Amino acid sequence: MTRFDPAGPLSGELRPPPDKSITHRAALIGAMAEGPTRITGYLDSEDTRATLRAVAAVGANVREGEADEHGGLFVGIEGIGLRGPRPAEIDVGNAGTLLRIMPGWLAGQPGGEWTFDGDESIRRRPVDRIADPLRLMGAEVDCRDDRLPPLRVRGSQLRGIDYPMPVASAQVKSCLLLAGLLAEGETSIHEPVWTRDHTERMLAAMGASIRREGERLIVAPAERLEAGDVPVPGDFSSAAFFIAAALLVPGSEIALRDVGINRNRIGLLSILSRMGVEMGGAHEAGRAMTVHEIREPGPEPIATLRVRSAPLGGTAVTSEDVPSAIDELPLVALMGCFAEGETVVGGAAELRAKESDRIAGVVEGLSGLGAEIESRPDGFAVQGGDGLRGGTLDARGDHRLAMLGAIAGLASRNGVEVAGMDAAAVSYPGFEADLAALMT
Ligand code: S3P
Repeated sequence: MTRFDPAGPLSGELRPPPDKSITHRAALIGAMAEGPTRITGYLDSEDTRATLRAVAAVGANVREGEADEHGGLFVGIEGIGLRGPRPAEIDVGNAGTLLRIMPGWLAGQPGGEWTFDGDESIRRRPVDRIADPLRLMGAEVDCRDDRLPPLRVRGSQLRGIDYPMPVASAQVKSCLLLAGLLAEGETSIHEPVWTRDHTERMLAAMGASIRREGERLIVAPAERLEAGDVPVPGDFSSAAFFIAAALLVPGSEIALRDVGINRNRIGLLSILSRMGVEMGGAHEAGRAMTVHEIREPGPEPIATLRVRSAPLGGTAVTSEDVPSAIDELPLVALMGCFAEGETVVGGAAELRAKESDRIAGVVEGLSGLGAEIESRPDGFAVQGGDGLRGGTLDARGDHRLAMLGAIAGLASRNGVEVAGMDAAAVSYPGFEADLAALMT
């Protein structure tokens, strides 16, 4: 059990850890490129270490350098090229992004065979969402009960397809983009709602032909990808825990530096603005949240976010908001407990297929701390205004629930004990130290 007591104001500044989604992609796409890819600020976490082991297992040469002052690693990858990864059994650990993206590359390698398996939680995460479209492209893919890992991929010559995605998922889209590079003819993907486009940006920077035509995203087959430098921005999804903490703990004022602000990732900011948080630019110092120093050192934009505590009101989150805020919805529930009126999240059934069933985890977790919250099949509804009493929250082996419990503790009246805080290391090994630094 790890205890988080009610806190005085948070202050100071920090750089959140490197982005998990972008780190996974940098290692995978670096392995597919020809020549050396230099990744600066590689996230050193359990999930992203699994990806380094996976690309090494299929033949990429991985060289690890020194960590920078924010804990990001330098990683050099000598790629294999698009064709020729060697057969391997891949242990993805807890990493759903690795499990769902890497098979796209391997499915297009005639003659090879790969298996993907991982921990107990990974074995509950659906992979039919990639197996179905890969089979339409001509791939040979098997999975347990036709739905769950272990997943086996036998490489074959693929053909391009025109695929309307039934669920908005950046992992599925990315898997098909990688497969499309190796297919005969173009592959076209329709997304029901736009999801994070980190894969598109990185592939385009490495020379792939990817274009949008109306609602369709189209990738052309490629001969090769050109290796290059990949700077990894700070992770908005990790920064979001401190954004919530600063908004909720009275008197707080913090700055979060070098945070990735890809527009498909920062849906939380629109939700907060509807909850009454006044947003502004660098010259609007009176606002509760301001965005400073926007720049683009690589394919992804970054900025400094300044946040101070502010009163919140309830809001409704719908399916249009969900993909760009999917990993932050547990925090919306927490903030809903402190907001005046009702906060409802709908259109988010995907939360049930994350590292844990995050609807059940959030509703049971926050109810145990005194929240008035009920679950819905596709989300939850919170009656806010009274804040949280405190108590014990079970992280259920899920990194985002562990960190949610910690922030709930700071904002609660009596403190929160988190069972299973070590899960945070999946995406944010230094979380407790960073939080402590903002509290001194
Ligand atoms: C991710 C996409 C999202 C997100 C996950 C990371 C990615 O999942 O929840 O944490 O890196 O592409 P889905 O693609 O399943 O929505």
